[in-house]
Amino acid sequence: MITVPFGDLRREYRSLQTEIDQSARRVMERGWFVLGQEVVQFEREFAAYLGLKHAVGVASGTEAIQLALMAAGVGTGDEVITPANTCVPTVAGITSTGARPVLVDIDSSSFNIDPAKIEEAITPRTKAILPVHLYGQAADMDSILEIANHHKVAVIEDAAQAHGATFRDRKLGAFGLAGCFSFYPSKNLGAFGDGGAVVTNDTEIDARLRRLRNYGEERRYHHTAKGINSRLDEIQAAILRAKLPYLDRWNDRRREIARIYNREINNKAVIKPEEMEYGRSNYHLYVIRCARRDKLQDHLAERGVTTLIHYPVPIHLQPAFSDLGKVVGDFPVTEECAGEVLSLPIFPELTDEEIHQVAQSVNSFR
Ligand SMILES: Cc1ncc(COP(=O)(O)O)c(C=O)c1O
Repeated sequence: MITVPFGDLRREYRSLQTEIDQSARRVMERGWFVLGQEVVQFEREFAAYLGLKHAVGVASGTEAIQLALMAAGVGTGDEVITPANTCVPTVAGITSTGARPVLVDIDSSSFNIDPAKIEEAITPRTKAILPVHLYGQAADMDSILEIANHHKVAVIEDAAQAHGATFRDRKLGAFGLAGCFSFYPSKNLGAFGDGGAVVTNDTEIDARLRRLRNYGEERRYHHTAKGINSRLDEIQAAILRAKLPYLDRWNDRRREIARIYNREINNKAVIKPEEMEYGRSNYHLYVIRCARRDKLQDHLAERGVTTLIHYPVPIHLQPAFSDLGKVVGDFPVTEECAGEVLSLPIFPELTDEEIHQVAQSVNSFR
């Protein structure tokens, strides 16, 4: 029996070692480590990849969310609508602006925010809607943009898991005012440490973001806004530049693995993920559902298959967010998912043998 890891970044490094080593060395030999030419070039290349005007490199996906909201004028006393089924960093990005997250339940087929439930969450304090393209699958942007336009609130996308995924043939990122990416190492495009970016087509938002990520500095030692320190390192930018040309190929391989799982997994106790007709997932995660999830996870572990749960405890049931005043039963679809979802290994370097072992192990669960 082979052990199938959930991810293995060493395999990716080995496949690109020469390019990555050269990129890191180039920065070290230049001796310029923060906000230099690697960041400038990466910002251009990433914006071009997405088909957008601007990308601003920042220190993490969480701070990308914080900075995008700050640039949109969101702050203390404002409310930001976001799905109940997301990871804590989405909500941490909101609370760090002083705004209040307002959670909305999800649609069980897409795992994303249910547009039919957004309207009832809107109040006079709502400043933005922050959909999350969870697991790499687009939220229903047509419906979300229509509601946002009607109520004149901004849309900022949490695309931290959605590099290269599409909605109606356009890459996710700036269907709204801005989009937020994470380059955490295990993302479809990952750095060798923390990193993030905010992307936008709005030139004024871009200019604000550039100030806000660098202590609100307009020009050296002249500050026109209260900003933070959240910059993408030169070494990370150089490594991301080396990896970006491979992103589409890697995403295609993830889609191929998803197709094999879809074809080979045939256990009636398991619900496979549904692809929405409006977009293409990048399969950041391949998430199945099973009523006896914990037993299935044990069964897979006994067969050497490593799995994870995204996410076991919804935001509103986390002690840190008890101030939201929500209790068990408030977001039933999210709560049901938390008890049933299970993420199977999916990453470009997974071998065919490993993929078949995962599928067979799921199928032998009784
Ligand atoms: C959906 C989502 N939003 C936000 C983040 C935050 O990104 P980071 O870990 O780079 O701060 C992540 C990644 O952890 C994420 O998956």
